Amino acid sequence: MSQETITQKRDGFSSRFGLIAAAAGSAVGLGNIWKFPYIVGENGGSAFILIYLISILGVGLPVLLAEFIIGRRGGANAVRSFKKLAPNTKWPVIGWLGIIAAFMILGFYTVIAGYTIHYFLLSLTNAFSGMSSEQITQTFHHFSSGHTPIIYTIIFTLLAVVVLFGGIKDGIEKYTKILMPGLVGIIILLVVRAITLPGAAEGLKFLFKPDFSEVSINSILDALGHSFFSLSVGMGTMLTYGSYISKKENLSTVTCSIAVADTMIALLAGVAIFPAVFAFGIDPTSGPGLVFITLPNVFLQMPGGNIFGALFFLLLFIAALTSVISIFEVIITYVTEELNVNRQKALKLTSIAVIIIAIFCSLSQTPNTTLSFNGNTLFDWMDLLSANVILPIGGLLIISFLGFIMKKDEVADELQQGACSIKTTMIYLTITKFIAPLAIAIVFLTGIQALF
Ligand code: PHE
Repeated sequence: MSQETITQKRDGFSSRFGLIAAAAGSAVGLGNIWKFPYIVGENGGSAFILIYLISILGVGLPVLLAEFIIGRRGGANAVRSFKKLAPNTKWPVIGWLGIIAAFMILGFYTVIAGYTIHYFLLSLTNAFSGMSSEQITQTFHHFSSGHTPIIYTIIFTLLAVVVLFGGIKDGIEKYTKILMPGLVGIIILLVVRAITLPGAAEGLKFLFKPDFSEVSINSILDALGHSFFSLSVGMGTMLTYGSYISKKENLSTVTCSIAVADTMIALLAGVAIFPAVFAFGIDPTSGPGLVFITLPNVFLQMPGGNIFGALFFLLLFIAALTSVISIFEVIITYVTEELNVNRQKALKLTSIAVIIIAIFCSLSQTPNTTLSFNGNTLFDWMDLLSANVILPIGGLLIISFLGFIMKKDEVADELQQGACSIKTTMIYLTITKFIAPLAIAIVFLTGIQALF
């Protein structure tokens, strides 16, 4: 197929709301609702939030804007966009790294995403009723170390395929336009429930009272690392979405809207979770188990708790689904454009590959597994290698590409459309092209060190 026909036939977002719903849907994920609240809890509450906001401004935001600029200018998948903008160079390697990261993230993310379906059903059917907290903990360990998660992972992946089937406008945009407002509605409902609980103030204090004594160098690294995982940058997701953005859109405005939405949802998730945790006297620093072990206890003690529990896991499910489809799209756009197969076939092949990787990730959680290396299971490795290694390298390369390789007039031209001042944005990009790579390099080196 010639370049021209590909361009002519290319799908795209049809409205600004659809584009923001899809991109914010990618950003808002398990990272916001599952991870952000507990890292805030562990790192000194609002002192950490402050550092996180600085990281978003200094690192996350410029990389996000860079991905949109490169994607829209390139007008193709993550590999080809670099080929077009820097012919005969090694820069397309960024796209390749993104595709590898996409498979790795999908491998473990779909497993946790599958848990949300199981927990939604358990809550809805009031299955936790009468259980002691010991039994709730056992229920989780028994479930996650068994074979049932595989079934839920497959169901989840197939649901993602249904959304992806229609393409950008009639698939991703159509569904995220409904799912994202639904997500916002559910989170507001949960926030109202949480702050009206007796004893809620304690939880809010924990979340928002700055405690600088808890802030360590690790907190700063956590904040930096999380800022670009949370914004879905560093692996071509936003670059791929960027390639579907119409020339009419103002990229700076879209970038800011997404960062604000992503941060707001993360904060709201904290407000929904911590007051309840405190009101029912549960340890707030229980870390990753907070969502599946701690929260069912909280919901159990709450009047109408099974309904709020079901709503919470539905929220988590939606957040995971809209992120998973964006990661899939990196691969699907590549396969359809480079390997010349149609979307249906690309989806079939990719989802089979993802399901196989996810099955291995899930099996690596079972007792006596041989799928572990150096003290970490395959599941952990997929998470660590993608989030701590590939994403930071990708982010560093992307911002460097924009700052030092891409032609200034091309960048300016992409910023031309819309109301935001090009001059201000260019100054901002010029500053961050030095700060962001440095910060990312530090996160990366410390992340790597922690792995071995
Ligand atoms: N941003 C998503 C989250 O917060 C995760 C993600 C990372 C999605 C990278 C796409 C790409 O959960």
